[in-house]
Amino acid sequence: MAPPDDRPAWWRGAVIYQVYPRSFADGTGDGVGDLAGIRSRLPYIRELGVDAIWLNPWYPSPMADAGYDIADYRTIDPLFGTLAEAEALIAEAHALGLRVLLDIVPNHTSSEHPWFKEALAARPGSHARERYLFRPGQNGGVEPPNDWESVFGGPAWTRVREPDGSLGEWYLHLFDVAQPDLNWQEPDVHEEFVAVLRFWFDRGVDGFRIDVANALHKHGDLPDLAGRSGRPVIREGADDHPFWDRDTVHEVYREWRRVADSYPEPKMFVAEAWVPTPDRLARYVRPEHLHSAFNFDYLGTPWRADLLRESIDEALVALEAVGAEPTWVLSNHDVVRVVTRLGLPQPHRRSWLDVELDGTERPDVDLGTRRARAAALLMLALPGGAYVYQGEELGLWEVLDLPDDALRDPIWERSGHARRGRDGARVPLPWTAGCPSYGFGPADGAPPWLPQPAAWSRMAVERQAGDAGSMLELYRSALRIRRVHPGLGSGPMRWLESSMGVLAFERDNGIVVVVNVEGAPVALPKHRRVLLASSPFDASRLPPNSAAWLEV
Ligand code: NOJ
Repeated sequence: MAPPDDRPAWWRGAVIYQVYPRSFADGTGDGVGDLAGIRSRLPYIRELGVDAIWLNPWYPSPMADAGYDIADYRTIDPLFGTLAEAEALIAEAHALGLRVLLDIVPNHTSSEHPWFKEALAARPGSHARERYLFRPGQNGGVEPPNDWESVFGGPAWTRVREPDGSLGEWYLHLFDVAQPDLNWQEPDVHEEFVAVLRFWFDRGVDGFRIDVANALHKHGDLPDLAGRSGRPVIREGADDHPFWDRDTVHEVYREWRRVADSYPEPKMFVAEAWVPTPDRLARYVRPEHLHSAFNFDYLGTPWRADLLRESIDEALVALEAVGAEPTWVLSNHDVVRVVTRLGLPQPHRRSWLDVELDGTERPDVDLGTRRARAAALLMLALPGGAYVYQGEELGLWEVLDLPDDALRDPIWERSGHARRGRDGARVPLPWTAGCPSYGFGPADGAPPWLPQPAAWSRMAVERQAGDAGSMLELYRSALRIRRVHPGLGSGPMRWLESSMGVLAFERDNGIVVVVNVEGAPVALPKHRRVLLASSPFDASRLPPNSAAWLEV
């Protein structure tokens, strides 16, 4: 038995960089990001100063939902590379001191997964069908079994043709029609996912981000929604939803935690769970459950001091009650980029796919950038861990004018072109100004899978590196300080008195954070040294939409 280890677990207070493989770097020149590209840019991630990377799905997939429709959980899609390259990537990341998290998608498989093909070829009532949620339709079979709607738009049920050619049962897909939901009451499903976790853990992977962790268990009777929203909800609808956040879903994660803890250096999980309240989120990170869960309530909070403070407090109180710390996040591949969000009027909370721009709202990118800089310093000074989505450190904005025929997100088609979807947050990164695709791929490579805005030439990594006023250097400085300052990361915080529209708090070891969200210019305490500020300011007065870290 290993000797007791009293070092704090690495993931407490860790900053984790989200790599969206198809848009990070294209090593092979086909216009799509890949493992060769990621491997060539690992030193960049290391230099940024993060502790780990999380990779969005890289598994074989028909790509109906950009890889969240997995046909084989144990290898790599040829679009991205090979299993051998994945193993090399893991080893190289480790050699640079970066841990590696993968994405696991347990709510649904691809319709091309061997299990689903077997289910389609089998009879109603067969064991193969039991692994998914097949049901007879209503009214003689012609209507879906209930009124559930897909998160992406349209009905959540599709009728199949039986092997004899007749129209038959319906299967549930909370997302795209090519993403059939698994039946988590079926023991095979449990066994298979434990085996998949072990497959990757045994290859050195340090943890997993769990896709829609709150959807695995459905109400046994599959009752109608009867007017309730089928889309993920925050701050409402806490009670007994037929598929979101059911009390029993945690059984899955108790089982997975035992798997993670069985390794000499325990593995970790982070839950993607859009839930109505911080208390509900805390249930995912109770002892013997998951290690962490994204705080999306905070992500959806408007740029208002009172609401930010309320969200922070509620998260801290709810999580402290279960002995956990928050995991902060400002953006990811599903939400409008933070610069654009914060450049919009900020009247009320908005969430995930609800953050859809209807064409009438015009973001103020300069204002959004100032706020995003302050928001980064606020997030990186809060207790707990944080995630940074690729391009956030470059201040990239949401690309709102992608041509219609470039859109790939299934939301665009499934919503009958009513919602443009999430492609605007997934546009390939600019690395070098003045090169084709801004260095995303080789100079003679195919154009990137989504077009990049001309203005991103000035956002390129090579342009920002070394420019003290750039977003990249702000992130690098903040992460450098955070790595060495014993007051930042995991640990307590105390609010300090502050004027209207301003947040001020203290961490341990003499560090004070002041965020002027929307107040009048605020005087900073005189005996404190400015360690880092999000925008230039005259000696003592911090303007609105900016933040500073101070030290005695
Ligand atoms: C959440 C993922 O982040 C998103 O990109 C995906 O479309 C859905 N889950 C379905 O897997």
